[in-house]
This record gives sequence, C-alpha cells and structure tokens, in this order.
Amino acid sequence: MCGIVGYLGPNQAAPVLLSKLRCLEYRGYDSAGVAVIEAGRLNVIKAVGKLANLETLLQKERPMATVGIGHTRWATHGSPTDENAHPHINANGTLAVVHNGIIENYAELKAELTARGYVFRSDTDTEVAAHLLSYELEKAPTDVLRAIIRVVAQMRGAYALGIVSQHHPDRIYAVNHHYSLTVGLGEKESFLASDSTAVRQFTNKIIRLEQSEIAEITTDGVRLFAFDGNERTRDPISVESNAYKIDKEGFKHFLLKEIHEQPLVLRQTLSKYLISADQPVNFNVESFAPGLSAMYGVSLSDDQVRSIDRIQIVACGTAYHAGLVGKYVIEELCGIPVEVDIASEVRGRKLLVNNRTLTIAVSQSGETADTLAAINEAIESGSFTLGITNRPDSHLATLTPNLIVTECGIEVSVAATKTYLAQLVSFYLLAIYLAEKRGSISDQYARELKRGLSHVPAVIEQVLAREEAYRRESLKLADAHDVVFIGRGFNYPTALEGALKLKELSYIHASGYAAGELKHGPIAVLDSSVPVITVLVPGRVYEKTLSNAQESRARNARMVAIAVDGDESAPSTFDYIFRIPPIDEILSPMVTVVPMQLMSYFVADFLGKDVDQPRNLAKSVTVE
Ligand code: F6R
Repeated sequence: MCGIVGYLGPNQAAPVLLSKLRCLEYRGYDSAGVAVIEAGRLNVIKAVGKLANLETLLQKERPMATVGIGHTRWATHGSPTDENAHPHINANGTLAVVHNGIIENYAELKAELTARGYVFRSDTDTEVAAHLLSYELEKAPTDVLRAIIRVVAQMRGAYALGIVSQHHPDRIYAVNHHYSLTVGLGEKESFLASDSTAVRQFTNKIIRLEQSEIAEITTDGVRLFAFDGNERTRDPISVESNAYKIDKEGFKHFLLKEIHEQPLVLRQTLSKYLISADQPVNFNVESFAPGLSAMYGVSLSDDQVRSIDRIQIVACGTAYHAGLVGKYVIEELCGIPVEVDIASEVRGRKLLVNNRTLTIAVSQSGETADTLAAINEAIESGSFTLGITNRPDSHLATLTPNLIVTECGIEVSVAATKTYLAQLVSFYLLAIYLAEKRGSISDQYARELKRGLSHVPAVIEQVLAREEAYRRESLKLADAHDVVFIGRGFNYPTALEGALKLKELSYIHASGYAAGELKHGPIAVLDSSVPVITVLVPGRVYEKTLSNAQESRARNARMVAIAVDGDESAPSTFDYIFRIPPIDEILSPMVTVVPMQLMSYFVADFLGKDVDQPRNLAKSVTVE
C-alpha cells in the first residue's frame, strides 16, 4: 500500500528518493511522485502508473535538489490519476505533503477549509492536510512544528505524513499516528521511509517513530516531539544494514522464485526454533534488536501456558487461512478451543477474550491495519498476545511481548506464498510447544511430529521438481470463468487459499468450500464448464472428501485433484491429477498448497497477467 520516503543530505535527492520508492514498490501502488526543493522553490513531479513513468519525468527534468519527499500511492480516496497522486501542495505551492492512511474526518475539515476559501484540486483526503497546515502556518509562519501540532489535534484516523516546505529547506517533518515511519541517520544525511528496508539500504542507524510522534529531521539528526509538543529523546538503534536486493535470480517472476524458496524458508524457520526431534520446541531465542519490545519467541511462563483456556486468532487474507490451519492443528494437539476471526470482523463487535485467552495476530507485514486494530482490542481486554510475522521491525512487533518471526526474507511478490508456508510451520511449532508444556501429547508423538516437520522441506522439493507436469495440467484451466476448490479438515483452509491464489493472480473467479458444504448450495453452480479442484489426502476425511468429489462429477464438473502418489482411487474420479508425494494428513497443508500456488502462477502467466503486482492489490494493507 502507500509508501513514504524522504531524503536530505549532500547528494541529489531525486535518485535517492526513486531508489527508496523502488524498495517500497512491492507494497503495491498505482501512482508515484516526489517533491523536492530546487533553488529555494518547491518542485512537484508525479505520474500515474508504474515508477518507470515517474523515472522518465525525473530524467527529463533532472531536478537539482538535496532535500525532498516521495510517495507511492494506492488509491483510497479518488481514483489513480496524476491529480490524486501525492505529494499534495498548499494553495501557493510552498509546502508539500505525502500521506499514508486515512484522515477519517477529512470531509468535515474539507468543508471548513472550503468555506475559508481554500480550493481543492484532488479527491484525496491528503490535500486536507496540506491546506490545513497552510492555514495553521498563517498564524505563525516560522513555527512549522506548532502548526503541525495544531493540525494533528484536528485530524482523526490512523496516518503517517511527510512534509517539506520551501521556507524551511533544511528539514523534513514526519508525523506518525498509529502507523509506521522510520528515520535513518547517516553521515550528514538523513532518510525517512515508511518501511525500514528502504532506509537500511543507506544506513543501519535508525529511529522508529513511536505512536503519535512528530519528527523534525535535519542533516544533523532528528528531534522527536509528542503531539502535545513535549520533546522526547531516544537513541537510534542499530539494525542489520544488508542492502535490500531486488533480484529475481533467473526466475521469470518474483512469485515463482518465492514459491521455489519455500523449502529454504521452512528450514530457516524450523532451525530457529527446533533444535532436534528429541528436544522441546524452543522459542526463547535472542531478541531482535535493542529498542524493540518484542522478543523472538514466547516468554509465557509454564503456569501461564497451562492457564490458557481459549485461543483467538486474528488475521486477514492468506494469513487468515494460515490461522485456520493453526486452529485445526492446535485443537488436535492441545485440546484448546480456537476461534479464528477475519481481523476486520473484530471491529465494532465484542472480542470475547480475557486473561485466560491467548490472542494470536498473524501478519506477514506486521502492518495490516485491521489486524493491528484487533490485537489492540485483545491487549485492552487483558489477553495474552502473540504475533506471527515476517517483519521483526514492524508495528505488530512493538505491540506483542511474544513474537514468532518467520525467516523468509522480503517477499516481493504481492501474493503471499513463502510467508504462508512459514506461518503454517510456525503454527505447527507453536502447537507442539503448547502441547509439550501442557502434556497433551505423548513424547513419542511429539518426536514423530517434529521429525515429520523436519522432513516437509524435502517433500516440497520433490513437489517443485514436478513443476513442468503441473504447468501442463494447469494450462487446461486457463479458459475457465469459475473454479471451485474443495477440501476437508486440515485441507479445508488449503481450498480457501488455493481459490484466493487463483483469483488474485489470474482474475478468474474462484471459491473455496469445505467439501461437505458443497451440497448445501454451491453445487448449484456446477456444470461441465466449472473445474472442481479437490484436495485429497489419505487420512480421516479421505473417503468423505472423495464422496463429495463424486457428487461434483455427477454434475459433469471438470474434475481435478491434488492427490498423493499411489492413490489408486483418484483416476476413476478425476480428469487430471496433480500428484504429490505421500504425506501425513496433519502435515499435509504445507505440501498440498504448493501445486495450487504453481497452478495459479502458470494460469496467470499464460493469461499475461501482472503476476508480481496483480491489479488493485497492495502488499501491505495499511487502511481499515
Ligand atoms: C494474499 C495476500 C493477502 C495478505 C493479507 C494480509 O496473497 O497476500 O491476502 O495475506 O493482506 O497481509 P499481512 O499478512 O501482511 O497481514
């Protein structure tokens, strides 16, 4: 979703801003722009579409400036147009604002400003901030900080801002209100970005803005202020400065590369928390970085673990599907009832958690607004909380005292693949951890599960080796308009995830159902044009799933299965089969989803879709 960057220092600002915007590209956007101060005057350059369009303009104009802010916009208020692209300026074009999030009372503020004679040029809520700041600055033109304090007192919502003014070319102002912003400090140069990866390219000395904080950034450093104007002091923290590399490493798309990285990321995540099958799962590993409240791992005492009588999982999209697998696994191994909620559905409703509940927020980015809002509600209700994220530097990491970090590296493709697998393995580890502490499974079974988990990456490697056969079968689905995915038990969430992957990548409509639910309504849509993709793994629900598939076959649907090698019943029911190596039913969701990811990829690529950045989607969904 939207991204903010800023730079001031000895170098040309435009190329630095562009390079930082490239780091944020993966979050999803539909227009981009920069505002630089060139020879004492503000110069705003913006373009709808990909960053390449902005780059072309910058190459033409070559602005000579050493201070500036930039933005990638994912449309919320107003369609993606040049006018709506950020930065937005005030009436006389002396100050520019970039903005992430939503100003909830913008309509009210816009009406007031319009009545005062301000003319709006865009449909955005952001422009309100630019005019409001201009209005407040009229009262005391030299005191930008006081003006910003008066502005934030009037704005409601969760947002982050970057501000430059041609009257103060030696500084950038940044505002963080329930969002994420990082300031990077270099040698006589400073950086601003909504995602620390874009700062870590240039420096490993960072300051993360806390909630409701204003930063005055100069080349000498940063001053921090609370919204009441009180100055705060905080030392920068050192983080790994490994440059953020955007490299497909020979793969046609990041998505395909990331699907292929799955055995590696599973091994990395497993090796962090699982020493051997004979030892308990260990989450007490080193903290991520000084200055962050979250530790890698789970710091609940044994008594606290035993006191938990309910688990509540909150997440969105693919992470929600991981949470559903988590529910099945935790209930199976620990006997603790687990609720899984789509995080946005927690809003405006009573979240029934208390000091005997463990609330788990699952979020690859750790920045999803709905998930953060839900975990905040759980914190207020006194629940234990735990985060599962790929970003130890995220907002989520600052909210939960317990954190399982998935070791995936950056996931560039907007569609989640490797982070889903890593979230799944985190849930298996967590379930075994809780079960060992509560004595709900035998030592022998715990050992078997841990051995099984350690073997999963090798099984996925075997699945990936079948890619060419999957590609051939996948292309038979490319003409479909509707596709139905079904699965039962541990693989019901796999059916949901398979459908989500196919629709977001190929734009073919797809729905996932619990296989047993098909006959309660969805079966009405079946005919010979509709492929039904069944996840069929030997185990407790095998026969019943097969019967549900047969019900679909009787409606002439095109029958496709994800089935294990040696399953002799499958060929008589299915027209084509994506074969996978045999796998235990309980562990199978980590394997069955992989052919579905590849299927979605091959169909989308065949149809010429923008595989890494599907239309309308954002990687980091920072608005509710
Ligand atoms: C789908 C996808 C999204 C995300 C969802 C939550 O491929 O990527 O559905 O899973 O937006 O994002 P995070 O995990 O960052 O909270």
